[in-house]
Amino acid sequence: MDPLDSLQAEAVAEFAAIDDPDLLEQVKARYLGKQGLITERMKALGGMEPEARKAEGARINRVKTGVEEALNARREALREAALAQQLAAEALDVSLPGRGTGAGGWHPVSRVRERVCELFAGIGFEVADGPEIETDFFNFTALNTPDDHPARSMHDTFYIEGSDRLLRTHTSPIQVRYMQAHQPPLRIVAPGRVYRVDSDATHSPMFHQIEGLWVDRDVSFADLKGVVTQFLQRFFEREDLQVRFRPSFFPFTEPSAEIDMAWGDRWLEIGGCGMVHPNVLRHVNIDPEEFRGFAFGFGIDRLAMLRYGVRDLRLFYENDLRFLRQFV
Ligand code: DAH
Repeated sequence: MDPLDSLQAEAVAEFAAIDDPDLLEQVKARYLGKQGLITERMKALGGMEPEARKAEGARINRVKTGVEEALNARREALREAALAQQLAAEALDVSLPGRGTGAGGWHPVSRVRERVCELFAGIGFEVADGPEIETDFFNFTALNTPDDHPARSMHDTFYIEGSDRLLRTHTSPIQVRYMQAHQPPLRIVAPGRVYRVDSDATHSPMFHQIEGLWVDRDVSFADLKGVVTQFLQRFFEREDLQVRFRPSFFPFTEPSAEIDMAWGDRWLEIGGCGMVHPNVLRHVNIDPEEFRGFAFGFGIDRLAMLRYGVRDLRLFYENDLRFLRQFV
């Protein structure tokens, strides 16, 4: 075969055998690059007689065109192959059934919180909120618990160094915040996280309370007993549920009581309550001669443990799906 023809045949065969686009460009240089085999032949034309140069030049050009066409065809084929491969890799079968993420469900503590709020909403209580990082003033002082008051040591909590801030030990400060912003008559429940330095099967350093507050002109301890008793009977869906108010002490209520309910053959303590102390009302510029109120606080986790028969509080906070799924 003529050397020029066999050069073309060689290039075409070589291009056809290449699968890698980068390699194809490298091989192209061997034929068509500045020092490529075809280019060298072009350069050699300079030393030829005009007639022969013309004929040879035309032949080289024909070969060059043929090589370029083969190159372009191969480039195109490789591009198409790459595209086809990408499309295959990214193929989406829209007829496949979905993977499904599961509907999920409410955490038992959240369920109880929502249920308690709903029950109180049914008798006209609004839901209020307050910060978990609280100031000493709202957590203690405004609740009639001065610096040297022994109740402060009962509430050993997490203090934020170099500030007057702490993690609130109860939801009671929300009473103060709400009364600062609203005039009576007012009726709220306020659920939320609270913190104490405590940890065992029935105590967690973080737990949940729900606060209640009703302030009006003629609210009495009898109202307090009625509201709390009816709430508990509804919550546990037992009309005959026995509730007991045991005299106690809280700095922000007077008189104060512990709320117990009959459970089997025992009394269980599930909250505190009392008539709002006049000093608390004075702190928020409500005249205690004109208005009176009652307040109460329940442990939401406590209510959840009783309602669902959970013996260890820590189960609520371990996020073990085997436990949590039982409530969905
Ligand atoms: N804040 C109290 C505590 O965490 C519970 C409590 C008692 C709340 C009496 C009240 C109340 O609103 O009136 O121990």
